[in-house]
Amino acid sequence: MEEKNNSNAEYIIVKAKSQGVQVIGLTRGQDTRFHHTEKLDKGEVLIAQFTDHTSAIKIRGSATVLTKYGTVETDS
Ligand code: TRP
Repeated sequence: MEEKNNSNAEYIIVKAKSQGVQVIGLTRGQDTRFHHTEKLDKGEVLIAQFTDHTSAIKIRGSATVLTKYGTVETDS
């Protein structure tokens, strides 16, 4: 099946406030598993999209998360 073009999909921004923050992509569909883990150093910023493969994103560690719904801090 041809994949959709996700270039206009929603982005989130994760800014690491401490060393070793993990941004984990969870699969879309029936089963929910991790398909990618990205490790950020303190001060690093990741800009990521929800796609056909990713329907949820889990963040471990101290970070600021910016979305269209607002800004949230993972509380440490
Ligand atoms: N595989 C699930 C799905 O596509 C992933 C998921 C989406 C999820 N939202 C969630 C898992 C909320 C736990 C909580 O629906």
